[in-house]
Amino acid sequence: MVDIKNIVVLGAGLMGNGIAQVAIMAGYNVIMVDVKQEFVDKGMASINKGVNRLEEKGLLTAAEVLGRIKISLDLASAVKDADMVIEAVVERMDIKKQVCKTTMDNGPSHIIYASNTSTMDITEIGEDCGAPERVSGMHFFNPVPLMRCIEVIRGDKTSDETFQISMDVAKSFPCLRGERYIAPVLKSRPGFIVNRLNAPVGIYSHYIRDLAYEKGIPWEQLDADYAVLKSPMLPGVLSDYVGIDTSYYGGLYYAEKLSPDFKPGKVITMMFNEKKLGRKTGQGFYDWSEGRPTPDTSKKAGLVDFDIIAAIRMNEGCRLLEQGVAKSYTVIDDANMAGMNTPGPFARGKDRYKELVKKLEEFVALTGKTYLTPCETFKSGKFLEMA
Ligand code: 3HC
Repeated sequence: MVDIKNIVVLGAGLMGNGIAQVAIMAGYNVIMVDVKQEFVDKGMASINKGVNRLEEKGLLTAAEVLGRIKISLDLASAVKDADMVIEAVVERMDIKKQVCKTTMDNGPSHIIYASNTSTMDITEIGEDCGAPERVSGMHFFNPVPLMRCIEVIRGDKTSDETFQISMDVAKSFPCLRGERYIAPVLKSRPGFIVNRLNAPVGIYSHYIRDLAYEKGIPWEQLDADYAVLKSPMLPGVLSDYVGIDTSYYGGLYYAEKLSPDFKPGKVITMMFNEKKLGRKTGQGFYDWSEGRPTPDTSKKAGLVDFDIIAAIRMNEGCRLLEQGVAKSYTVIDDANMAGMNTPGPFARGKDRYKELVKKLEEFVALTGKTYLTPCETFKSGKFLEMA
């Protein structure tokens, strides 16, 4: 089994610099690569801030940890002595395939390429690189040092050794908020487990947001409907935090790969076109110029039906079981809790599935969103045997 010591992190943005930080905290030698000096400098500034904050708390020696990282603008030379590349570049298939090939063309014959894509097919990313058996997925959650979950994804050509090494490396990355949870994703399907589970809720969110916009209802009143869930972030704040462009591109990808029902709604499309991308541009659903917004949730819109959301997530969870992407509904619930700090659908809803199936059938009849039609494993309750 290859011994991983040197890791190249490709992309110094929000996810890339978080991955580089936990890698140097774990003891790996890291080269962080991006295309512009300003990008690697901004990424290093974020890592310096995080590591120095941990030194203040007496949790590590900053000079020792920061001594393990270098920066570069040249992927081909950076991978020369690398054992693994973890790629966190923009969600574009053409770019991911190109950097995967550059890695295999310039790296040692044992190098492993792991993509942090949020949704894209691992098999397709590696298909032209010449060594698809050494390509896997390693999907982190934002912010990487605090979110426990890492999904490790197996492409159709990924070897057992590559999959096991990717699981082991993921397990070795520290987390500041509890034990790392490594979710094995047994087949590469759009969105893997956690994002896939929540993606169809986007169909409902687009429907509700467009409705609220037509009625002139302020975003904080719509978010107030969700306050009862006590999630760490309200939906409008979380969309801004993750980035409106990430949701927009994700919606387009699912619309291409799964169903046109995923096409981004009027509101999200308008914001994308107006570059209101959330935290990264300072304005999204909310203004971020004063830091993380705290919406007033005293007045509700009264539009949201949580049973429809619960039914959509359970139905999609059942699809993941049907397709063999996840081996049990416990893995699905645990991955969601570790990736989003919110409960998965099964723990909450499995005893009410018949009622939820009926609710979902009514919503499909009302809206024509046929992608949400309950699947056989959900309708029959067969998922109960897959704990
Ligand atoms: N290094 C070291 N310390 C860090 C750090 C870093 N890089 N980043 C944050 N911290 C520390 C901060 O310094 C602070 O500690 P301090 O108060 O002692 O200084 C602490 O961590 C965080 O404090 P916050 O007040 O910011 O923390 P919260 O209690 O509000 O929790 C949160 C923050 C965990 C982000 C919480 O708001 C949350 O769970 N939000 C939801 C996030 C989520 O859902 N993420 C998943 C998005 S989906 C995704 O990523 C998938 C992708 O494919 C799109």
